[in-house]
Amino acid sequence: QGCKLVGCGSAVPSLQISNDDLSKFVDTSDEWISTRTGIRSRRVLSGKDSLTILAAEAARKALEMAKVDPDDLDLILMCTSTPEDLFGSAPQIQKQLGCKTNPLAYDITAACSGFVLGLISAASHIRGGGFKNVLVVGADALSRYVDWTDRGSCILFGDAAGAVLVQACNSDEDGLFGFDLHSDGNGQRHLNASIKENNSNNALDSSSGSVSDFPPRQSSYSCIQMNGKEVFRFAVRYVPQSIESALQKAGLPASSIDWLLLHQANQRIIDAVATRLEVPSERVISNLANYGNTSAASIPLALDEAVRSGKVKAGQTIAAAGFGAGLTWGSAIIRW
Ligand code: ACO
Repeated sequence: QGCKLVGCGSAVPSLQISNDDLSKFVDTSDEWISTRTGIRSRRVLSGKDSLTILAAEAARKALEMAKVDPDDLDLILMCTSTPEDLFGSAPQIQKQLGCKTNPLAYDITAACSGFVLGLISAASHIRGGGFKNVLVVGADALSRYVDWTDRGSCILFGDAAGAVLVQACNSDEDGLFGFDLHSDGNGQRHLNASIKENNSNNALDSSSGSVSDFPPRQSSYSCIQMNGKEVFRFAVRYVPQSIESALQKAGLPASSIDWLLLHQANQRIIDAVATRLEVPSERVISNLANYGNTSAASIPLALDEAVRSGKVKAGQTIAAAGFGAGLTWGSAIIRW
């Protein structure tokens, strides 16, 4: 059983925050941000904006391109680390799309690697049988978890949603032919947004549990804590290895890559990985200047723009790689 990508879509919030806008809140400058990261602007959800509605908009566009009716979906995977319901937001996308057939819908939490993991999960469901049309949505609103007083991290992030429709096909048309996925929980200290310690559920902690600790206080999460240098080092070291491994599994040389499409975190990371893989800059997709790091949305957002602008053409080979919190990282070799 093969599977192929047959549609993509994206959506971004209307509120645009430039580097100059940010420099009114924290001690930074357009010059510092753009030379260190390549980012010039980002979109941010505001007021009553909903990430779920943004995700549904991206999903609807992907379905339209694929000419697939929402009622013909078998599965919706929502890749997000910032759900609007802790119990999962994929069923709310199903509701927004008006699916009368109740396709299975669940969330995947893997930060900036979420979309690549979603893609491979979609392929596994299809190859396992029983699933024909799988919608993979990558959407995040990290602006809600950023410490807007921390200039070392707040300059990086933006909000967005992107989606692709993965469809079952004959094996000779297969469009997802090599992948490589990893996690390393030891690196969590370098990048996290953890539950606040003083909110831990003492009643269930056997070392300190006593009825006097009950009921537990309501939980909340800390803002994003990041050691930028360590995350940078991790990405530059492991992402090229992962892409090389995925290419090897696909039986393809690096020279067969038409487009390198990395998670959009920092232009210097993208450039370093491209140099390691000897992919020339004209074959590298980058749109982070306009959107910053949009976590699980960054790959489908950049893919959608590249497809709709005519840059990526049918039949071309894309090496996509995500990396980020967890730590998690992974690559997929896909044909558009
Ligand atoms: N404006 C001005 N100065 C700044 C800013 C800023 N926004 N941020 C930091 N500085 C200062 C620092 O205080 C430091 O000053 P000092 O030398 O006087 O102490 C100096 O600039 C250098 O700071 P560094 O942190 O060493 O800067 P670096 O070159 O490492 O760049 C950056 C920082 C851009 C964060 C980089 O490390 C990076 O992009 N790392 C990767 C981060 C990443 O991609 N994270 C997301 C992963 S995806 C996910 O899953 C969420």
